[in-house]
Amino acid sequence: MDRSSTVHRAVKAHYEKHVYPRFPLLTSLRLCDTYALNLDALWARFNGERLDRHDKKILLAGCGSFSPYPTALANPKAQITALDLSKANLDRAKLHTWLHRRFNVDFVEGDLLGAKALLGERRFHFIDCYGVLHHIPDAGAALQTLHSLLDRGAILRLMVYSAPARRSVQAARTALRILGIADVAQIKALYKKAKDSSRFRGCIESAYEARFDWGLADLFLHPYAKTYTLHELLEALQQARLEPIQFIHPGALPDVDAEIQRLERLEANNALASNFMLFAGRAEDSQKRLHWRQEKKDQDTLIALNPAIQKSLPLLPFIPLKPGPKLGFENPVIGFKANRLLARFKRPLRKSALGPDRWTAIQPYLHALFLTETSAPP
Ligand SMILES: C[S@@+](CC[C@H](N)C(=O)[O-])C[C@H]1O[C@@H](n2cnc3c(N)ncnc32)[C@H](O)[C@@H]1O
Repeated sequence: MDRSSTVHRAVKAHYEKHVYPRFPLLTSLRLCDTYALNLDALWARFNGERLDRHDKKILLAGCGSFSPYPTALANPKAQITALDLSKANLDRAKLHTWLHRRFNVDFVEGDLLGAKALLGERRFHFIDCYGVLHHIPDAGAALQTLHSLLDRGAILRLMVYSAPARRSVQAARTALRILGIADVAQIKALYKKAKDSSRFRGCIESAYEARFDWGLADLFLHPYAKTYTLHELLEALQQARLEPIQFIHPGALPDVDAEIQRLERLEANNALASNFMLFAGRAEDSQKRLHWRQEKKDQDTLIALNPAIQKSLPLLPFIPLKPGPKLGFENPVIGFKANRLLARFKRPLRKSALGPDRWTAIQPYLHALFLTETSAPP
């Protein structure tokens, strides 16, 4: 058996044993917190088009046990396919979505690398592959498969481990392997004995996931977790004819080239503290995206509410709403004034009808994707 299939088996066995993430089944989310998974809003942002079609298709490539639920909440009309290697994760995800009365998800057990055989000719408008690629030895082949599954103009969300951000975790993993530590109870016992100043204690205390058994298993017992430098990531994307269209990790700059330069500087100074999170698109669609960026500068557009925000605007506008940050920056609060401003866009309005003050006032909400902008019909 070659190394790749040995790793594949080990990764599957890991997730059959350690369901990830293991949130309580009653964990529910506010609809407003799913705003950045809403396909209509994403399509508007990158393509400037309204995706009014009935065949909105979403693929969760390596869905884990939870992500089908928020994705289905954000996209009640979409056909969602949740693909995962692990039956245990799929069973848990199924239970979670059904308990929360979300029934628009098909669950498929299998390997992302074999997705074309599993999914046939289907193409998707949005693919979420979050925290998965770094667990696949042939990530290049996985990216090429993802590319082949993207429809024209489609959006891919990725998260991969960054080498500098994961340095202390990777060092702890190696140390634990050398010590022969292979279960969560032993990791917790070691943590209890660790000195306050120890690097192991620091590593555990700085990782949110380390508060949970499933998180400790994922951090320290995973059979395969590669980390990427920025250069490696960009190279792998380019090889698969994909390109970053927006970075969304904490602190990311809105402009892709400016963000790449910032990440290069941080890497050079050993100061990069976050993993890479981004939206990517097919290189073939680059002209389409460029055309939209130009069009929105020069021509009239339609401004509308993100459907996930529209349904969340409080009926009592004096109760402030602050959706959790999903695009790398703190969101504006929707207080009384903002509620009234945003409520005007329950029906799309033309940019030309807004006047300069209102146009300025809505900029933070456009930036945050609470509002969307699309081409206006002539
Ligand atoms: C760290 S979890 C992330 C889950 C989910 N995307 C999330 O963000 O919560 C990685 C998931 O990818 C799945 N996975 C790993 N390799 C895979 C492969 N080759 N094909 C399909 N799924 C895979 C695992 O079973 C696991 O559920």
